[in-house]
Amino acid sequence: MEITVNGTKHIVDDSRQDDELLNWLREDLNLTGTKNGCHVGICGACVVLIDGKPMRACRRLLKHADGKEVTTIEGLKGKDGALHPLQQAFVDCGAVQCGYCIPGMIMSGHALLLQNHHPSRDEIRKAISNNLCRCTGYVQIVDAIESAGNAYDENA
Ligand code: FES
Ligand code: FES
Repeated sequence: MEITVNGTKHIVDDSRQDDELLNWLREDLNLTGTKNGCHVGICGACVVLIDGKPMRACRRLLKHADGKEVTTIEGLKGKDGALHPLQQAFVDCGAVQCGYCIPGMIMSGHALLLQNHHPSRDEIRKAISNNLCRCTGYVQIVDAIESAGNAYDENA
């Protein structure tokens, strides 16, 4: 199998095709930004993009990523290694408390903003409807995703 993660190609033995994507990212590639919140597909902390679509990595096997491009939170970077504009928007809007849900929230928001730079608040709420946050509340998170749209215009 060949899996591209954040622009780097990885050759993976076919014997591992039924291994879980989340564990592989965290344990083999040391990409621990993707969180394991529930491990049963409910919390959304493990969301990554596979060919641009948000997917729960705890519910995906390596064979589901074969030949595809996976993007994790580590793959988002601003200019010169600074925070990505969407990450900065979360900081600026006070959308982060414990932070555990945030990588998944940001990847779900990023997937939406790639498709639609200026979504409505309802569209944002729908995009993050599978991401649970136990401490910040959702208003600031929606604010953050909404406020980042202009940066996606600039990078288009
Ligand atoms: S860890 Fe995957 S949905 Fe919770
Ligand atoms: S910031 Fe703590 S769970 Fe969302």
